Amino acid sequence: MSLHRGVLRMATAAVALAAGLAFGAVAWAQGEWKAPPEAHSLKNPITKFDAKAKADAKNIVETNCVPCHGVTGKGDGPAAAVLPTKPADWTSEKVQKQTDGEIFWKLSNGRGAMPPWKSLPEKERWELVSYIRSLKK
Ligand code: HEC
Repeated sequence: MSLHRGVLRMATAAVALAAGLAFGAVAWAQGEWKAPPEAHSLKNPITKFDAKAKADAKNIVETNCVPCHGVTGKGDGPAAAVLPTKPADWTSEKVQKQTDGEIFWKLSNGRGAMPPWKSLPEKERWELVSYIRSLKK
């Protein structure tokens, strides 16, 4: 192999790699986020989401979620402007049409700029699901 062809090949490989990475980043940022099938039927154990439970959940939201998702959950928190992916609008049809299990799975596992909230006790995570539900228009 001549030196020239070797360099050319390396350059081609580098371009292909860069293109692949760029495509991957775009796919990561824009691909639809789907919870796995087994998450769909997870049952929300919170059957009584009363004023006290809602106030508790609101507290967790204010501490952990508001910077990105905004005070009203519309995805317009102060940090939203600098994120590569827009935080979800909890009041939207797109979020609300999912099962409780799917929302639970997503907020537990996170993706990209959305942190995983597995560190919160399971009960609190279900309360967050009920809270998001309570914002349905
Ligand atoms: C650092 C910013 C940030 C914080 C803090 C944050 N989120 Fe998110 N969240 C995001 C982003 C960005 C997305 C969209 C991710 C994507 O589509 O790849 C998202 C998506 C979600 C989704 C998925 C919506 C859907 O149906 O696709 C849920 C549910 C959610 N967030 C709940 C929460 C909850 C609850 C908290 C607080 C406990 C929280 N988030 C804190 C940035 C954040």
